[in-house]
Amino acid sequence: MKLAIIGTGYIGLVGAAVFADWGNEVIGIDIDLKKIERIKSGDMPIYEPGLSELVLNNISAKRLDFTTSLPKGIKDAEVVFICVGTPQGDDGSANLNYVWSVAKEIGENLDEYKVIVVKSTVPVGTNERVKEIIKENLKNNVRFDVVSNPEFLREGSSIEDMQNTDRTVVGYDSERALKVMRKLYSSIESPLVECDLRSAELIKYASNAFLATKISFINEIAQLCEKAGANVQTVAKGMGLDKRIGNHFLNAGLGYGGSCFPKDVAALYKTSTDMAYDFKLLRSVMEVNHRQRINYVKKIEYSFGKNLSGKTVACLGLAFKNNTDDIRESVAIKTIRIIRGLGAKIKVYDPQAVENAKNDLGLSNVEYTKNAYDCVKNADALCILTEWEEFKLLDYKKVKSLMKGSKIFDGRNLLKQDEVEKLGFEYFAIGKISNGLDILDEERPVYAILRNGRRQKNK
Ligand code: UDX
Repeated sequence: MKLAIIGTGYIGLVGAAVFADWGNEVIGIDIDLKKIERIKSGDMPIYEPGLSELVLNNISAKRLDFTTSLPKGIKDAEVVFICVGTPQGDDGSANLNYVWSVAKEIGENLDEYKVIVVKSTVPVGTNERVKEIIKENLKNNVRFDVVSNPEFLREGSSIEDMQNTDRTVVGYDSERALKVMRKLYSSIESPLVECDLRSAELIKYASNAFLATKISFINEIAQLCEKAGANVQTVAKGMGLDKRIGNHFLNAGLGYGGSCFPKDVAALYKTSTDMAYDFKLLRSVMEVNHRQRINYVKKIEYSFGKNLSGKTVACLGLAFKNNTDDIRESVAIKTIRIIRGLGAKIKVYDPQAVENAKNDLGLSNVEYTKNAYDCVKNADALCILTEWEEFKLLDYKKVKSLMKGSKIFDGRNLLKQDEVEKLGFEYFAIGKISNGLDILDEERPVYAILRNGRRQKNK
């Protein structure tokens, strides 16, 4: 089939490459000429495993091309995908300006029947508005249909996710468009959820909000574990074996970040308020997510007698999660900002995200290092902020010998507590009892539970 994909961000670029790989003729469209030139030369604007090869292979097979011209790009396409960004607006709602302007341009250039597919994450009712805008701007009296086909790709595994998706959601209001979509996804074995436009739009938000809720829930359980003397990883394992709960998204940590969860949870909350519904649970999900990093920093602060001034804190991780260079809404960066604000000198390292972070964090009181060992040199404390596999595999004996201090604050529960404690580290994780007992603060109960099960009175 002939496809046009407007927007070459994560969803658009990965979508274009995978659709082409399935044998379709695909044109990616973006207003940014430099970006398109980069992509065509195999230099991807995002770090995504396997993407460069997939793009280049399909360009040479003549199934994939790119252009900056929307009229030219959509001319011969049977299906036109809208994959532009919907960033968070000041009031929490999704900013739909790019979607509206693309819809207008599509309308102005439509000269035969096409299916217009909205893949961008958009609030309930947007697809209907897209339809109206296209109609209002038609220069020719042609028919068209609008389909909602939200994407569930995760950064870092998006190619695999698209090829082996759990489900494909198709919101439609015309049988003709549905037939086109069924043909497009005919090679996919997992279920096609065929539904009305509004339900399709909500499936995307409800899914992301539910996953965010799962993370905030386990983070609350982690706080309770620290007070109760339990281990959140053991609790999560025990819960996850129940098939109704499932073992995914139960890793306690510093909270969720990234370009989707924070934005989508806020947008769904805004939608519900606009519809005069107080979605209390979502409000708590956001609050818990924020509190999680505050509690983590408090732990660091208390362990240094409430004074971080002049201390050197080595921070491993800048990306919002592993296997990406994306720092959008990165909890690692937000946490570093708080620690720096408390007067500590920061050293940082990330396998992919250093360049992006430099623009965001700046250079004040931050030293960017080339590898994890340089990062920990002479540090008073080590903070693990992103769940990179590389940080798990470091030689912690060497880390110990390079550091000045011996405190590790594992914000992602990456390390094996017994092993690092044997090396002489004071280890503080999330939702486990630490061997560093001097951090009990006024917000903790009068008694804290020691690892051997005894109780110690708060100092
Ligand atoms: C997410 C959704 O998973 C995807 O379906 C949607 O299309 C876009 O948003 P992504 O933003 O790439 O994908 O990241 P994801 O892997 O879902 O992780 C989101 C955040 O949650 C990260 O900050 C991660 O560190 C955190 N997380 C994830 C946890 O803290 N604990 C977990 O158990 C899982």
